[in-house]
Amino acid sequence: MGIFKKKKDDMAAFLYAQQGELDAVLMYEKLAAAVTDDRDRKTFERLAKDEQRHADVFFAFTKDESLKPKKTKAIAVPFMYKVLGKKAVYPLIALGEYQAVWKYRPVAKKYDEVKTVKSDERHHGNAVLALLREEK
Ligand SMILES: [Fe+2]
Ligand SMILES: [Fe+2]
Repeated sequence: MGIFKKKKDDMAAFLYAQQGELDAVLMYEKLAAAVTDDRDRKTFERLAKDEQRHADVFFAFTKDESLKPKKTKAIAVPFMYKVLGKKAVYPLIALGEYQAVWKYRPVAKKYDEVKTVKSDERHHGNAVLALLREEK
C-alpha cells in the first residue's frame, strides 16, 4: 500500500515536471526570438534545448504524450522583456530556475536521472543572470 502511494506521488511529480519543462521550452524559444542581443539569443536557444532534454527525461517516466506546452509564459515573458527590459525580467527568469532546483530536490534524491536536471536548472539561473553582466 505504502509503496503504491509513493509511486503514485512520484508519477504526479513527473507529470507536473514534464509540463513545466515543455512550457519552458516554448518560453525560451519565444524569448530567443524576441531579444535584441545576439549573446542572449544564443543562450536562450541553448536553454530551450536543455529544457527539451529535461522534458524527455520526465517523459521516460510518464510515457504521457498528451501533454502540450502552455503558452502563458511564452507570451508573458517576451512581452515583459519588451515593456520592462532585461534588467527587470532576467532576474525573474533566474528565480524560476532556482525555484526548480528546490522543486526537484526530493525526486532527485530518489532518481539519478533527475539529479542532472536539477543541477542544469542551477546553471540556467546562473547563465541568465550572467547576461546582465558586461561581456568581457
Ligand atoms: Fe528544465
Ligand atoms: Fe531550466
